[in-house]
Amino acid sequence: MKFSLFSPAKINLFLRVLGRRQDGYHELATLIQTIDLADTLTFTLAKEDRLTSTDPTLPTDSSNLIIKALQLFRKQTGLNIPVDIHLEKKIPIQAGLGGGSSNAATTLKALNTLFHTQISNEELQSWAAELGSDVPFFFSTGTAYCTGRGEIVQNVRHIPLPPFELRKPQEGLSTSEIYKALDLSECASHDPKQLLNDFLSGKLEFINDLEKPAFRLLPSLATFKQKLTEGGFTSSFMTGSGSAWVCLYSVSL
Ligand code: C5P
Repeated sequence: MKFSLFSPAKINLFLRVLGRRQDGYHELATLIQTIDLADTLTFTLAKEDRLTSTDPTLPTDSSNLIIKALQLFRKQTGLNIPVDIHLEKKIPIQAGLGGGSSNAATTLKALNTLFHTQISNEELQSWAAELGSDVPFFFSTGTAYCTGRGEIVQNVRHIPLPPFELRKPQEGLSTSEIYKALDLSECASHDPKQLLNDFLSGKLEFINDLEKPAFRLLPSLATFKQKLTEGGFTSSFMTGSGSAWVCLYSVSL
């Protein structure tokens, strides 16, 4: 048996950091939505495990979230059937677009189908938090308000957006480095619940508390952003921990 699934990217429409936690993570309130950009994962029952990818720079060992998801599925179900996985990579890495997290979620869903294990979406979502803070989002309906370290997912309705393009500087950004460079006193003061209500009623206010540390870690981002404005975009905002930006010609629909 062989089948393929899309593994979509996400953008953070707003991302507020509310504080540092005892466990080293940060308390977040973020509105996330999947977008059309997607990787494709193909799963085949095989004689032995194998992960291949169209991106030669991606590790295919257990540091890859796809392998971590496979190991988690095996730990939870006790099933140990070999599987061949091929990743057609379209989502840039170290971009804040959730590519790795999405691949992990897609792997859990695919294995559930491939092995007829009939585990509920909710249960797979609860396992997913172990793989990364963003992974549970990919079990949502596509738009969700996420809190905690990002793993508490509340589905909300789809937010219509004006046409946008993604731009990413060559340099990527590491999520943990961005959080280390974050100065909480620089964060916005907007109430995230209010921001959420605004988005749901059509008022789009794109805020990302991780932009300031990104500019500090990657000073060339200032020139990059300047070029976006010169290129005719009236507005742009970083997604997640970057380094990709969502660029708009107009903020109205
Ligand atoms: O959860 P995930 O493994 O994706 O997080 C990567 C890193 O980003 C964490 O090790 C942590 O340093 C940082 N992080 C954080 N607060 C969050 C999410 C991630 O500090 N809410």
